[in-house]
Amino acid sequence: MTSNESRVIRAELLSFDADPGEGDSPAEGSVRHYADGALWLENGRIKAIDDYAALAPRLPEGIETVDHRGKLVMPGFIDSHVHYVQLEIMASYGRQLLDWLNEYTFPEECGFAQRERAEVISNAFLDEMLRVGTTTAQVFCSSHPTSVEAFFSACRERDLRMLAGKVLMDRNAPEALCDDTYGGIRDTERLIGEWHGKGRLGYSLTPRFAPTSTRQQLDATGGLLRNDPSLWLQTHLSENPGELDWVAELFPESRDYLEVYEQSGLVGPRSTFAHGIHLDQEMRCRLAERGANIAFCPSSNMFLGSGLFDRLAAREVGLNITYASDIGGGTDLSGLATLKAGYQVGQLRGQPLTAWQGLYGLTLGNAKALSLDDKIGRLAPGMEADFVVIDPDGSPLLGRRHARCKTLGERLFALMMLGDDRSILETWAGGRRQHQRGQA
Ligand code: GUN
Ligand code: ZN
Repeated sequence: MTSNESRVIRAELLSFDADPGEGDSPAEGSVRHYADGALWLENGRIKAIDDYAALAPRLPEGIETVDHRGKLVMPGFIDSHVHYVQLEIMASYGRQLLDWLNEYTFPEECGFAQRERAEVISNAFLDEMLRVGTTTAQVFCSSHPTSVEAFFSACRERDLRMLAGKVLMDRNAPEALCDDTYGGIRDTERLIGEWHGKGRLGYSLTPRFAPTSTRQQLDATGGLLRNDPSLWLQTHLSENPGELDWVAELFPESRDYLEVYEQSGLVGPRSTFAHGIHLDQEMRCRLAERGANIAFCPSSNMFLGSGLFDRLAAREVGLNITYASDIGGGTDLSGLATLKAGYQVGQLRGQPLTAWQGLYGLTLGNAKALSLDDKIGRLAPGMEADFVVIDPDGSPLLGRRHARCKTLGERLFALMMLGDDRSILETWAGGRRQHQRGQA
């Protein structure tokens, strides 16, 4: 099937036009829902969306119709922070961040100097992402340029919209993983030239976190961002108390962790800071003022015992929140599982996450915070045809629960709590069906 064909998907359709708020019911005008809808695709984009009965008379005669009545179509899920190179060290037992990095993560990432390994894991990772309905992610590769080349090549072959970057890290890690302060920057510049803006790919500058980069390397990264504001930036911030103490020791000239990044010019509207658990309100305000976003990684935060992210404190100051799996620290690639963990973290803080807010976050919310909302995140004319076909009866248990639901809100919440890869019947990206449940 090629993307320049025209076809229509008939199904229940759900998409967000705006933030639904924190209430049990979504804010007026925030949700677009068609019980019997039609999504018309052409040349890899959405041409029209409407009630089936309204659109049918406008459709060209003989157009292929994919009949998914009884299924729910939503925009493809977005994962704002994930490490593809950590796929095979998920579920490594019993450590908190710094020990976990030293014992499992750094040794694992050393293997990505080899092109063949990087290719195999890139493809395995993309298969897994599509299996759970994720069509876009912001991805950490390893510090080896070849890990980035392998990943972007695999994404290009599948015509996926992806952001990724070479990890910059010039100290405090095994030699095989550390780059040279400016050699890492030169490699980054070359990779940007080769991949940024090519097809649906974007480059995200990727200093790992403050402890593994010298001030010189962070400053040079800030220079790249200043020279080309179309780049993205991803790093980690305030995940774990041991990490905070270490940063304070390494950067005594900075008054707090965030200021380390501010002083190097790394905090801007295209910057994603993973975790941001141990922040005060003044730091949240500084992030919000710059239009940056915090990637909330609830399954990782629980797995590594990092802490309970205060989502409402971030919202209070207008700080953008994105949702992310952060595997290998996270326990699940599925966006639905991320939302389930987000709900659980929220309950422990007295701030449960509604399905409306969660599913908005996983789609349009993440797209907006990553400045991709002119391309993905909504089912709307002109948007790229990246979407997921959800089977509300995908598992026997979810089917039972689903049968009892009376409202759309109840159904979405049950999906968020009980959904998994069995709930994803198909994943489409670039107008092509790229995953079909039960087929590989
Ligand atoms: N901080 C620095 N590197 C990492 C990483 O690989 N995973 C997580 N969760 N935190 C980090
Ligand atoms: Zn991470």
